[in-house]
Amino acid sequence: MEYRELGRTGEKVSTIGMGTWKIGSFRTSEERETQVRALRRGVELGINLIDTAEMYNHGKSEEVVADAIEGVRKQVFIASKVSPENLHHDNVIKACRASLQRLRTTYIDLYQVHWPNPKIPIRETMSAMEELVRDGAVRYVGVSNFSAAETSEASAALRKNEVASNQVEYSLSNRSVEQETLPYCAKEKITLIAYSPLARGQIATSMPKELLQKYRLTPAQAMLSWVTRSEQVVAIPKAASIPHLEENASSVSVRFTLSEYDLVSKS
Ligand SMILES: NC(=O)c1ccc[n+]([C@@H]2O[C@H](COP(=O)([O-])OP(=O)(O)OC[C@H]3O[C@@H](n4cnc5c(N)ncnc54)[C@H](OP(=O)(O)O)[C@@H]3O)[C@@H](O)[C@H]2O)c1
Repeated sequence: MEYRELGRTGEKVSTIGMGTWKIGSFRTSEERETQVRALRRGVELGINLIDTAEMYNHGKSEEVVADAIEGVRKQVFIASKVSPENLHHDNVIKACRASLQRLRTTYIDLYQVHWPNPKIPIRETMSAMEELVRDGAVRYVGVSNFSAAETSEASAALRKNEVASNQVEYSLSNRSVEQETLPYCAKEKITLIAYSPLARGQIATSMPKELLQKYRLTPAQAMLSWVTRSEQVVAIPKAASIPHLEENASSVSVRFTLSEYDLVSKS
């Protein structure tokens, strides 16, 4: 596994993390067990970044993550998120406490504002985030779905901490962050956490076959290697099965040359 520094924190997170949207919804206890085992397999393979949110399946995703990290808490870097309706000061604190309970841990490594809420001043939200850091409930502060301008405002609202990351949609089929957000993050040394990096399962079908053969990559692996080309980016594909998880974990051992990267970009 390859690791990259999260923002300017000095912390190393795996270039391929694990997303958990839709995890926590299951029809049988076996299905739930498979989700836990897949996350545990990821940790065995060296993946340390696990992304969840209070919003995912009404907290059930965080509960599955809690089971998966039992006994390995210190090996993992847990990223969770506070929902946009909870961004008033006291609600941020309450939401974080509830996430900590569901995750059965005393700290969240990265606590992210899930979406901006223009009705609530970012200064108020960030003052609560700083309190959580001061009290040891949170280690680092992040944002999600923030534009470059919104990220800059969030940074300015923090007094003792920095915005370590911005989690945004980025994949071969959605490259809009390349316009402003990615260059801004690179300039400010903010990690861009790419969500839906596999285009929500719409795996590219027109990848150049010669490249896939040359590097023995599946199209999904090529999508993950492509999206993490910039040092500033880590990706959090969601995989509910162990074969998908293993495939994703080994995707970044290959790096395309610039001309190959351009070829994949056009596919
Ligand atoms: N901040 C935000 O607002 C936000 C929004 C959306 C998502 N996210 C985060 O980003 C994570 C990932 O995004 P996502 O869940 O939307 O989509 P994604 O990771 O782009 O795609 C997930 C889909 O790809 C499939 N898949 C995984 N590995 C595969 C492989 N090797 N080959 C073929 N198919 C594969 C999965 O199937 P299986 O499940 O069957 O393995 C699932 O159907 C989320 O789980 C969440 O943590 C954040």
